Amino acid sequence: MIVCSCTGVTDRDIRQAIAWMRASDPLTLITPGKIYRALGKSANCGGCVRLFIEHIRSDENFAVPVELRNLRGATLARSVEEA
Ligand code: FES
Repeated sequence: MIVCSCTGVTDRDIRQAIAWMRASDPLTLITPGKIYRALGKSANCGGCVRLFIEHIRSDENFAVPVELRNLRGATLARSVEEA
């Protein structure tokens, strides 16, 4: 299924890009921009953003790595402890 009609990016392209990014760096944060770059393309009109993000979120490899969760909360807690 074509997700981005401007660039011809499909749902399969998105899944493969996410899998490749996760395999090459398990701690990477996955964003639409990184997926476009991984595919050698760039967004044009932005009309696909909602559908693009839905496909990213539905991918089993999308989840934010455990090591990177709650970093802001941890930073704030550390600041309060140091004060
Ligand atoms: S439809 Fe994806 S950038 Fe235009």
